[in-house]
Amino acid sequence: MKFEELSFEEAPKIQGKIPGTNSRKILSQQEKLEGKPVSYPKGSPIAFAQGFGATIKDVDDNIFIDFFGGAGVLALGHCNPYIEKKVIEIQKNITHTLDFPTEIRLEIIEKIQSVLPGDLKNNSKIIFGGPTGSDAVESAIKLSKIITKRHGLIAFEGAYHGMSSGALALTSGKFWKKNYLPLIPEVHFVPYAYSYRCPFKTETAEECAKASANFYEHILEDPHSGVVDPAMTIIEPIQGEGGTIVPHNSFIERITDINNMYEIPIVFDEIQAGFCRTGKFFSSEHSGASPDIVTLSKALGGGYPLSAIAYRKDLDVWSKAAHIGTFRGNVTAMAAGSASIDFMLENNLANYAEELGNHLMMKLEKCERNSAIVGEVRGKGLMIGIEIVANKETKKPSPELCSKIRDEMFQRGVIIEIGGHYNNVLRFLPPLVITRKLAEIGIEICIESIEKIESDIV
Ligand SMILES: Cc1ncc(COP(=O)(O)O)c(C=O)c1O
Repeated sequence: MKFEELSFEEAPKIQGKIPGTNSRKILSQQEKLEGKPVSYPKGSPIAFAQGFGATIKDVDDNIFIDFFGGAGVLALGHCNPYIEKKVIEIQKNITHTLDFPTEIRLEIIEKIQSVLPGDLKNNSKIIFGGPTGSDAVESAIKLSKIITKRHGLIAFEGAYHGMSSGALALTSGKFWKKNYLPLIPEVHFVPYAYSYRCPFKTETAEECAKASANFYEHILEDPHSGVVDPAMTIIEPIQGEGGTIVPHNSFIERITDINNMYEIPIVFDEIQAGFCRTGKFFSSEHSGASPDIVTLSKALGGGYPLSAIAYRKDLDVWSKAAHIGTFRGNVTAMAAGSASIDFMLENNLANYAEELGNHLMMKLEKCERNSAIVGEVRGKGLMIGIEIVANKETKKPSPELCSKIRDEMFQRGVIIEIGGHYNNVLRFLPPLVITRKLAEIGIEICIESIEKIESDIV
């Protein structure tokens, strides 16, 4: 399938100031009807009319390049005809089955099994949870507690694992938790190998990985560290919401080795970075590490809500109905997800993401060298972060400049979101079917927007 046929080729096409009249009307109706937690339209104020591949048309006929990709869900883009065909077929036959078997259920399980990372490949058990990523994280928490009969949990600084109570307890951002405590007890956070801001003040990414892993080992080894042997450790092999943080490959390997030594299940959260996003089918495959449990969602359902965990067969120690729920695997999402894995393999999407990502990184690295406000550009494949600072010497984060750049890009027809410890990282997460041409145009707009905001600083 030609990727050129999957997006509006004339993007970006902006007429006048945005949001336009129709978008403004719908946004103000939304504000009247929906509660205050609505957030994305506050950063990118438009009302969508039609999504197509890596482009979005709004209700005023403006066309945007989509560097947000539904927060990683839309790996295959909006309304990919390959997926939609399968969706229409299945919807004629079946709507909802709880966990009764269907052909499509078994089909997607076998396909997931065949692409899993490390020792889980063709050698794991799978269960579907509720439809969102947080549900998969809750399943992993429960399973690891049942396996170990322990209840402590370890997560990493900068982690994002979701908003339900257990997943939120493992999420590091204070903003989401501050008026909502206590969540589940005995959760400990340890430093992630975030080399740009390494708490151990190391010089290189490798040294930061080593120091962070040494500290991690120390808290497990020292009987007075205050951390009682945990039920599991959960880690994003490449952190997403935390600011697209790519640790040195040795980090994930060391953490996994340490867990194996202390017999603590290790969970890789691949909800955002999985499914070809980073140039491998799963982001952990940049290292040689193998998880005990892996959490899956977002791109898993080909654009439809689906989540699952896969785990080592010998860890299948829970009993019938130990973890249930009405929406345990949605049939439409399973059909879309199954087609999506085929599409990824047939089009060698991991390679495409890697090559295009490398090409874009070269342009962005040049921008980093020339700019006084780009602290660091980092990423793998089509998961790239641009960390914005007020001062490159002090690395003082600048969420203000970052949101100005986002707004400037938006006015020029590119949608991008922001994340990071200090909300100062532009997070490039486009559909993986974006054409080289659209990606280059969008990145040029990004660089021009950075230059414009930098030149506005008095
Ligand atoms: C790594 C990771 N884990 C878990 C989640 C939670 O997924 P959901 O928002 O679908 O509950 C997210 C969402 O962004 C994520 O990026």
